[in-house]
Amino acid sequence: MTTLVAFSGSTRSASFHTRLLNSLPTYAPEGTSIALFDLSDVPFYNQDLEGEALPDVVVALRAAVAEADGIIFAAPEYNGSYSALTKNTIDWLSRPMGQGALREKKVMVISATPGPGGGARITEQIVAVLGFFGNTVVGTVNASTIHEKMAADGDVVTDVALAEQLRASLAAF
Ligand SMILES: Cc1cc2nc3c(=O)[nH]c(=O)nc-3n(C[C@H](O)[C@H](O)[C@H](O)COP(=O)(O)O)c2cc1C
Repeated sequence: MTTLVAFSGSTRSASFHTRLLNSLPTYAPEGTSIALFDLSDVPFYNQDLEGEALPDVVVALRAAVAEADGIIFAAPEYNGSYSALTKNTIDWLSRPMGQGALREKKVMVISATPGPGGGARITEQIVAVLGFFGNTVVGTVNASTIHEKMAADGDVVTDVALAEQLRASLAAF
């Protein structure tokens, strides 16, 4: 069994990134479990909260990653960078320094935009940051004009090429 934990860097109700994550079980090889971790209640990183004051949700976040074989970041592009929610998740998982749950995990990065960019530049930024933690990036998927590549209702990818990219990256885990 391959266990993956997935994070959407957008908490809006109709988020394309969350919907893409919800679609992934269709494309995952048999024996893969994908658990979406809800980041809504994770506070902003504050070093004062390390130790006994660590919020339960952060304990759960770190445990979910520690127990997983790999991580999937679905990361929206905000103003040429990735959203604070994605960065905050990386920051919590990076600590304790040198022993963070993020260390040496396999990672897949997905980014999608309604516009033509497909989040390619932020995927590069995330991959560069993950280099600090010895992560192996098994795949990056960028989708432009995402509103034309998913069904209006339901978490279904209608674009064949995008579906194949998702399948190939999941297989690489
Ligand atoms: C604050 C903000 C900044 C954005 N900046 C960019 C950007 O730099 N490039 C881009 O292609 N789209 C940008 N967008 C559009 C997002 O790609 C789009 O809203 C996307 O659907 C967000 O992901 P979500 O659907 O998972 O919430 C921005 C959206 C917001 C809300």
